[in-house]
Formats: sequence, C-alpha cells, structure tokens
Amino acid sequence: MQLRGETCIGSATLLSLTALLCLIFMHIGQINTSSVPRGIAMIRVNVSGYGEGLYAALSDPIEGLYTTNASAPLQQRAGLRNYYDWGLYGYCAYVNSSAGTCSNMTAANRFEPYKILTSDMLGNYSSFTDYIITSSTFIDSPYLGNFTNGAYYLLLIGTICAALALLCGILKHPFAFLLSTAFAIIGSAMLLIGATIWTVIIKKTESINGFIVGNASDPSPLGITVSMGNAIYLAWAAFATLLASILPYMISCCTFRG
Ligand SMILES: *[C@@H]1O[C@H](CO)[C@@H](O)[C@H](O)[C@H]1NC(C)=O
Ligand SMILES: *[C@@H]1O[C@H](CO)[C@@H](O)[C@H](O)[C@H]1NC(C)=O
Ligand SMILES: *[C@@H]1O[C@H](CO)[C@@H](O)[C@H](O)[C@H]1NC(C)=O
Ligand SMILES: *[C@@H]1O[C@H](CO)[C@@H](O)[C@H](O)[C@H]1NC(C)=O
Repeated sequence: MQLRGETCIGSATLLSLTALLCLIFMHIGQINTSSVPRGIAMIRVNVSGYGEGLYAALSDPIEGLYTTNASAPLQQRAGLRNYYDWGLYGYCAYVNSSAGTCSNMTAANRFEPYKILTSDMLGNYSSFTDYIITSSTFIDSPYLGNFTNGAYYLLLIGTICAALALLCGILKHPFAFLLSTAFAIIGSAMLLIGATIWTVIIKKTESINGFIVGNASDPSPLGITVSMGNAIYLAWAAFATLLASILPYMISCCTFRG
C-alpha cells in the first residue's frame, strides 16, 4: 500500500513537472533571437514568396519590398523580412534562419499578422496589398487579436495551476494532494481551451495559403504561407500530461497517510 502510494505521488509529480516544463518552453518562444527561444513559435508566417505573388498580380517589377538588413527597425516601412514567427509575447522577423529582430514584448500580445506585415512594407506596397487581399481571416486583425489575447490568459492560468499542482504535491499532505488535484483539473481545462483557441486561429489563418492572384489564365499563389509552430504542440503536450496527473493526485489524496 505504502509503495503504491509513493508510486502514485511520484508519477503525478513527474507528469505535472513535464507539463510545467512544456509550458515554460512555450512561454519563452520568440522572446529574443538566441537559439532556444528562436526555435519555438506558435505560428510562422512566411512571406518570402510574396514578391513573386505581387509581381503576378501587378505585372510591375517589385523593388524594395524586402530588406536584407536583419537589424532594420520593425513596423517602420523598412522592408519585409522573409518570415515572421510569433510567440505569446511578441514576434521576431527573420531575414534568414539565424538573423532577425524581435518586436517589443508585451503580455497578452495580440496576433495581428496583417497589421505587422503591412507596417513593414513601403506605403505603395501596403496599399496594393490592401487592394489584393480582400477577404480572408488573415486580414481580420480584430478577430485574431481578440481571440489570441484571451487565449493568452487561459494559457497563463493553466501554467500557474500546473506550477501550484506540482508545489502542493511536493508537500505530501492529504489536503495538499486535494489542492494538487483541484489545480490539475482547473489547469488542464484552461490549457485545453487556450490550446484549442490557438489551434483554431492557426487553422483559419492557414486559409491564406491557398489564395490565388493573377488573371484567370495564369493564376499564381499569393506567396504568403502560414504554418503551425511547435509551441502549439508544447501546449497540447502540457494539457495531456497535466490531465494525466489528475488521477494519481486523486489517488494519493485518498490513500496517503503521511
Ligand atoms: C518560406 O517559403 C518558401 C517558399 O515559398 C520556402 O522555400 C522556404 O523554405 C520557406 N522558409 C521557411 C523558413 O519556412
Ligand atoms: C541596418 O539597420 C540598422 C538600424 O536601422 C542601421 O543602423 C544599419 O546601418 C543598417 N545596416 C545596413 C548595412 O544598412
Ligand atoms: C543571415 O544574415 C546575416 C546578416 O545579414 C548574416 O550575417 C548571416 O551569415 C546569414 N546567415 C545565414 C545562415 O545565411
Ligand atoms: C518599442 O519600445 C520602444 C521604447 O518603449 C519604442 O520607442 C518603440 O517604438 C517600440 N517599438 C514598437 C515596434 O512598438
């Protein structure tokens, strides 16, 4: 009985610790361009083909759409970078796989890719872009911004609950196990909703990938592609592990006798 109790406590602790670690990595995604945060993102918007898409749509040579200066300021019409990766606190814009600049970081950052991209383009190109992309979730900044802003708080509460479940579980007291169980239940519910919102947002934003420009006889892709980042998988892994910790916490709470 004692041995079974210890096994339960041990596995619950291991599961909630795994959830917390996944969430910590999710939170540090894109906070700067050093190698670990750089490799973690909620979503990637790759605009490296947009010059060709714009050329197909306008049949005019496109000049000065991109910058190759990795440290050029963001949101100041200094030129598009090749791709943009979003984390929970902001985004980084990369000219190549290792060189980029990050935006200012804020809690509950709103994911508004269209605003961000057009603010890097020269004025005439952002007007052309407004003219070309007329309907897509991608350009619906209030919708994307509101949902990702709300999802941030759910993921944050989920993270705090995972940390509290882990800490209470370490106390090894029947009442503390009850608290751990409660935190694991609340936390996994929050993570479920937060991760679902982000996943839905990304799936809807991905509709831009099939956008076609040019005339009917010679259609071309727009050249903006959206893809899901690995931080979403971290959020789902955290949900799964925190959910799995509920049962062993519950059993520990009922059977632990000091
Ligand atoms: C961006 O998209 C282009 C094709 O449009 C592709 O060749 C390139 O590898 C992509 N870059 C990244 C970083 O995903
Ligand atoms: C790149 O941009 C930064 C910041 O605006 C500027 O200081 C630097 O001179 C630029 N570098 C080049 C090669 O243009
Ligand atoms: C990326 O760009 C930076 C600055 O333009 C350059 O120093 C670096 O060598 C490039 N890296 C790769 C992998 O192309
Ligand atoms: C980032 O913060 C600095 C200082 O607060 C401000 O001057 C700058 O405009 C901000 N940049 C953006 C892109 O919001």
